[in-house]
Amino acid sequence: MNTLRARREAEIATLFRDEGVQRAMELHGTPLLLLEPGRVRAQYRRLRAALPFAEVYYAVKALDHTAVIDTLAQEGCGFDVASIEELDRVRARGVPVDRTLFTHPVKKPAEIAEAWDRGVQLFVADNPVELDKLAASAPTAQVLLRLSYPNPEAKSDLSAKFGIEPSQTRALIGHAMRRGLHVVGFSFHVGSQLDAPRRFADAVGRTLELMDELEATTDVRFEVLDVGGGFPVAYDAPVTSVEEIADAIRPLLAPRAGRLRILVEPGRLLAAEAMSLVTSVTGRAERGGRRWVYVDDGVYGAYSNVVAEDVHPMILPAPGPLVARARLAPTTVAGPTCDSADIVARDVPLPPLSVGDLLVSPAMGAYTIVTATTFNGRVATPIAVVAEPADVSPEARDDAAPVRMLSTAAS
Ligand SMILES: Cc1ncc(COP(=O)(O)O)c(C=O)c1O
Repeated sequence: MNTLRARREAEIATLFRDEGVQRAMELHGTPLLLLEPGRVRAQYRRLRAALPFAEVYYAVKALDHTAVIDTLAQEGCGFDVASIEELDRVRARGVPVDRTLFTHPVKKPAEIAEAWDRGVQLFVADNPVELDKLAASAPTAQVLLRLSYPNPEAKSDLSAKFGIEPSQTRALIGHAMRRGLHVVGFSFHVGSQLDAPRRFADAVGRTLELMDELEATTDVRFEVLDVGGGFPVAYDAPVTSVEEIADAIRPLLAPRAGRLRILVEPGRLLAAEAMSLVTSVTGRAERGGRRWVYVDDGVYGAYSNVVAEDVHPMILPAPGPLVARARLAPTTVAGPTCDSADIVARDVPLPPLSVGDLLVSPAMGAYTIVTATTFNGRVATPIAVVAEPADVSPEARDDAAPVRMLSTAAS
């Protein structure tokens, strides 16, 4: 925990030394999200190195910012989209449609027709009605059947709403074939923020067994296995690394990779650590003998992940004299709306703070601004994009543009 805290403090200190970041804060004030596409790139490369045979499809829902899409597109990444809007967002950045995959298991009929019309070939389904809709609007589509993998160990169990049991697969494949659809394989999601490599391995192993059994007993031949996302991120405690999770599943997947396309759909892993949230203290109080501070972003804003996902990002004082003279005491950090539920965290070790002091939360890139609301009339927290070190040519420095300011998450 302390090592993680020290690492995060060092990362934030580096970020705050960036002249562009200083200028962005002067220009925008707070709250402000600082997005580092270079860290998205680094995470993508780590994943590719750990699972070299896998095709990566970034789950756009985690953070749909154009700088993230552009960075991953440059790297050759694919995109997992959950709506026609996400598909169009990715296409608008010049991504060829054959690098997209429509993974929502229940789509509006019009969305299927529009996605097919734009050239999407590969869709996910998990029920006969969806297959009928696909057959009607995307007549020769390739289909991945989504398997259920209930998992109480994950922060978000993504099998509560979607997915079928292995015992249902045979009938569903038959249904798809009768409709002229081509079932090319299976997808599953082990649950998001899953810090348990053996669960990843278990899900992969069971799915491969199922595929073997179906191939041995029917005419079907599979071409694709999509192992979903779920890789964890160190919010308030260390987690298993992507390399360790890859070590757990590589022995199962590598021997199949010659014949099967192996897909992986990470969202959080690529986006979370790439964005930090800077807030200001707007007020301070003693309540019940405890220290409270109020800040200008909260659980109805960029800290939406605290409530929606039950993750707990660190809240650190911004680098500067406060950190140096820190006498830390447990502090409740509350958001800006009038709602009592708008409490970001309790018992955060913080120094005595004054109105105007800055706080920073690292690892705020995934499922934060995309799930924020405008409750109490608050606008979306702006995002400033921090240039990658390699981007900062001497001219760019003179030109004072290492940071490109983008006004909202929709940029
Ligand atoms: C179908 C699908 N794929 C991938 C993801 C990304 O998951 P994660 O952010 O845990 O990697 C999600 C998240 O909701 C999902 O629903």
